Amino acid sequence: MAASFFGTAARIPPDAIFALTAAYLGDESSNKVNLGQGAYRDEHGKPWVLPTVAKARQEMEKEGVLHEYLPISGLKEFRDATAKLVVGSEAYGGKAEKLVTCQSISGTGSLHAIAQLIARCHPQKPKVLIPEPTWSNHFQVFGSLGFVCQGFRYYDSESKTLDMQSYIQALKSAEEGSVLILHTCAHNPTGCDPSEEDWHHLAQIIRDKRLFPIFDSAYLGFNSGSIDKDAFAIRYFINELNLEAAVCISYAKNMGLYGERVGCLVVHTSSAEVAANTASNLEQLQRSEISNPPAYGAKIASTILNSPELRKSWDQDLVTMSSRIKEMRQALYDNLIKQDAPGTWDHVTRQSGMFGFLGLSPSVVQELKEKHHIYMSENSRISVAGLNDSNVAYVAEAIAKCLQ
Ligand code: LMR
Repeated sequence: MAASFFGTAARIPPDAIFALTAAYLGDESSNKVNLGQGAYRDEHGKPWVLPTVAKARQEMEKEGVLHEYLPISGLKEFRDATAKLVVGSEAYGGKAEKLVTCQSISGTGSLHAIAQLIARCHPQKPKVLIPEPTWSNHFQVFGSLGFVCQGFRYYDSESKTLDMQSYIQALKSAEEGSVLILHTCAHNPTGCDPSEEDWHHLAQIIRDKRLFPIFDSAYLGFNSGSIDKDAFAIRYFINELNLEAAVCISYAKNMGLYGERVGCLVVHTSSAEVAANTASNLEQLQRSEISNPPAYGAKIASTILNSPELRKSWDQDLVTMSSRIKEMRQALYDNLIKQDAPGTWDHVTRQSGMFGFLGLSPSVVQELKEKHHIYMSENSRISVAGLNDSNVAYVAEAIAKCLQ
């Protein structure tokens, strides 16, 4: 190899999720099914522009869209409306001065921003506890900034349920002051969330051990169809227990704004003074990272969040998306039973959110791809939104064939 300034760069394999999408797009079979990357598809298997987003865009066009820079921390109306969405409108008034917001490049950007803030405030870098399995980017975002990430068992693959005992054990034996990644709802990839009672239990240990909770919140409203329901854990921690916490919001899934990269970091701090100091640090970190965030998607989200009429319409879109996903879970289950697919399948309907965790071996996943043109993550996570009335029987039949 010729000498290079970059000679120390070892070859890294492509990102598994994006590589899967590329493989699907390159497949010429007319039967192909994409159950890989989490992006909502309608009943015809097509990307869906939310009717509310289309209306918001029309309103924006009427008023005229400028292409000026946003402030460094992002669009104020968008950030305030996001903070209100997170803690709920009733609690917002009493909480606002202790909340810090910073617009981000979707959920990943807000995770990155809170990681940078923690690294600045704690140069020795606390350990980051991450449930396993998890969204692959959690380890990458924190690992790339030099944090030591420690996975703990979240899921029992035998019973196909959340393993609360291991979870509690992991938190109890954690070093005080560690950072903890929580999936607010619709756990990616398992689709298994703690119950309200479980959250009460977890919160108590988190408080006792002085762990810092980061809520990865990419699916608010998308899980159950109700923002209030899906925000339960956040509001319990922040509003009821008054705990410091970070909330990493993405509007990719729940507004279908995948490519616009619309997100926001919301941090609940212990006082107005800490909030102001924290905000100034986030602003400086943001300036050095991206200077100022992208405007268009944030304006769409802000138009929706700040208009009572569009907000109502968005609530309806959330019900449309979450209900179709629920129906497809049931349809997959029914078809697997009809096909006599070996094994039990009730976990498919028990899980919730965008993803289903089927429990297939990597070799079955491979066979589904190679023989049947059905694409899913190697751990057999499927994006349930990729199913529709035209392909669900085919998918179930293929799974049954591979297992028989
Ligand atoms: C997924 O988990 O498939 C999505 O969140 C897309 C991504 O960026 O990984």
